[in-house]
Amino acid sequence: MDPVTDPLTGPVADPAPDAVPNTPASLDVRGLAFAYPDGHQALFGVDFSVARGERVALLGPNGAGKTTLVLHLNGILTGGTGTVTVAGLPVDKRNMAEIRRRVGIVFQDPDDQLFMPTVREDVAFGPAAAGVKGAELEACVERALTLVGMAEFGNRPPHHLSFGQRRRVAVATVLAMEPEILVLDEPSSNLDPASRRELADILRSLDVTVLMVTHDLPYALELCPRALILSDGVIAADGPTAALLSDDELMRAHRLELPFGFDPRSVPASG
Ligand SMILES: Nc1ncnc2c1ncn2[C@@H]1O[C@H](COP(=O)(O)OP(=O)(O)O)[C@@H](O)[C@H]1O
Ligand SMILES: [Mg+2]
Repeated sequence: MDPVTDPLTGPVADPAPDAVPNTPASLDVRGLAFAYPDGHQALFGVDFSVARGERVALLGPNGAGKTTLVLHLNGILTGGTGTVTVAGLPVDKRNMAEIRRRVGIVFQDPDDQLFMPTVREDVAFGPAAAGVKGAELEACVERALTLVGMAEFGNRPPHHLSFGQRRRVAVATVLAMEPEILVLDEPSSNLDPASRRELADILRSLDVTVLMVTHDLPYALELCPRALILSDGVIAADGPTAALLSDDELMRAHRLELPFGFDPRSVPASG
């Protein structure tokens, strides 16, 4: 699926059938390299792009740099080299408020994200800080809670909910900002099978670009048509999830293991 390329002017036709002309990628990462202050280099030149509406899994062994990469997407970490661009807007100090609105990160532990006395207040927090008020704010909270199936729980204290419900509320806090891209760090971890299934149904129903960091390879296959493998701080593979997971050598080389007996070829492709 290489673009038709004119040697003088570059790509002249976009091969993606559903691509909206002139819509910038939801996320574009170019040459991103980063070393922590202690000198440990975690990223060595990461390049990839996620088109609007895509759902992409970010796979890779422990220590590969996945969380480091995620923390660059909304400018929590900066100071490396290379660029990150969200819907055409560079992630830099001048744009930080707008970038934080556009990039919704759902952290691994929902308790890092929920800190208000009620679910409703947690979901209202971001939009209220961005100036949304009154009936508009109510509608925004209602909409976000409905998207994650938690509309009945607005008045409950988050700490009275199950872990799976708290994770759904954490997703709602981010959706309330109407982000350009939803980034999830290990969304299925610590969920029981029913909660895992419910979250998958929610993620599939959303009309939003998704980048999902996960160790749960069946979950990646089920939800994300495309996957990236980050390994030793570089993108080692980028392609259809089913193709990557079916490549035994590639999987072994990056310490990715399918659950015993799971055959990626037996699962219908996600879409
Ligand atoms: N605050 C930090 N200071 C120094 N090194 C770090 C820090 N955080 C992570 N690292 C190192 O950077 C590398 C990438 O870590 P991380 O992005 O957390 O990987 P992953 O999320 O893929 O497991 C690892 O070698 C890790 O030990
Ligand atoms: Mg991590």
